[in-house]
Amino acid sequence: MAVDLLLGLQWGDEGKGKIVDVLTNNYNIIARFQGGPNAGHTLEFDGIKHVLHTIPSGIFHDDAINVVGNGVVIDPVIFKKELDNLAQFDIDIQPRLLISRKAHLILPTHRLLDAASEASKGKAKIGSTLKGIGPTYMDKTGRNGLRVGDLELDNWKSKYRALANKHEAMIGFYNVDIQYDLNELETEFFDAIKTLKSLNFIDSEEYLHNAQLSGKKILAEGAQGSMLDIDFGTYPYVTSSNTTAAGACTGLGVAPGRIGSVIGIFKAYATRVGSGPFPTELFDEDGETMAKVGNEFGATTGRPRRCGWLDLVALKYAVQINGVTELMMMKADVLSGFKTIKVCTAYQYQGKEIEHLPYNIESENVKPVYTTLPGWKKDLTTLTSAKELPESLNEYIAFLEKKLEVPIKIVSVGPDRLQTIYR
Ligand code: GDP
Ligand code: IMO
Ligand code: MG
Repeated sequence: MAVDLLLGLQWGDEGKGKIVDVLTNNYNIIARFQGGPNAGHTLEFDGIKHVLHTIPSGIFHDDAINVVGNGVVIDPVIFKKELDNLAQFDIDIQPRLLISRKAHLILPTHRLLDAASEASKGKAKIGSTLKGIGPTYMDKTGRNGLRVGDLELDNWKSKYRALANKHEAMIGFYNVDIQYDLNELETEFFDAIKTLKSLNFIDSEEYLHNAQLSGKKILAEGAQGSMLDIDFGTYPYVTSSNTTAAGACTGLGVAPGRIGSVIGIFKAYATRVGSGPFPTELFDEDGETMAKVGNEFGATTGRPRRCGWLDLVALKYAVQINGVTELMMMKADVLSGFKTIKVCTAYQYQGKEIEHLPYNIESENVKPVYTTLPGWKKDLTTLTSAKELPESLNEYIAFLEKKLEVPIKIVSVGPDRLQTIYR
């Protein structure tokens, strides 16, 4: 059986959590392949909203196994909080949640280093979620990291100590004012490690290989979005992992030839949280309406998300890099009531109109070129079938499908599981 991928195609927060939860009915295993608690994946059903950071979004389904893959970075403290939150829902977590031994651990000092690095950058800061993501992946590629599997060895605490000591010296190097009480942070960390150790650690690449051989259906859940990819995103304003399709191969140990459908999801408009270029960003009433109606506040940090029109130049690029085979459009309901809908179909760049993503998309370099389409008034949030979609929305969808050359299979019209329309 092939492994299907679900990826965000923009700057994150496209609605991955909601869709993974909806799609879990069709899969036996949901496997997160990269990122860490910088992610905030929201699911809603039965009137309850859940936000997951590290735990895959299939966790609420009795018959699905959730795997945290080797490409993920885990903060035991945040992970424990996630588990504590789930405790009230009577879920038998242990058999359902498996952790890769090769996943790296976020230490308290990684979080401090993230804060020190951001503080030292001043205005040029990345706008990191301050969850220690960058420093942890730096230790991974620098071959210094502490992994989940190390917790099964007797000497893990001395490995921890050596790394934390080094981090403390590095924090000093930044020469910024970071207040912390390492003893307190470590007490919390070691306590959380105990909780982490109560779960089953696995060799996830082997587990997923055997699952495929026995015909299990696997969905790989991405975090962040393609424009935050360490290689292909708006560097340096990106995260520190490969958020694109190839990240699923390295983040789970799945061979490229084993990948089946590549499901790309995008909002009907665009948002970004944190710093960095965003060519279609709006600073007017339209942007404010999107933020308000779409409730655009970060699920992890609570920061307001920047909003703008859909950027087809960037989206096409993401479809290409990922080899997207089907699309899902999220938050279509948020655009109800706009008289007209704009879509960026090209950039003005060095005196020419271009349709590919240039090296630098800072606002002084590119100006979006828009196509304007008619809007629709109809409230979409109570619709249940594609037949009920308003004509102008169908026109919008047809326009996007033609430009992207990939079918849009799902239109999401609200945060709830049930507000999902299949086409
Ligand atoms: P993720 O990081 O990709 O999982 O997305 P987030 O959970 O960070 O952000 C998406 C937000 O939009 C969440 O608050 C969801 O509950 C909400 N959401 C998802 N789909 C829809 C939709 O179709 N319409 C509306 N109005 N909200 C949605
Ligand atoms: P999900 O999975 C939106 C952004 C941060 C910052 C940059 C780097 O919920 O879509 P980091 O903490 O990784 O060093 O931050 O990336 N960012 C996200 N933006 N959704 C996310 O995850 C994000 N994870 C990181 O705001 O600009
Ligand atoms: Mg999110």
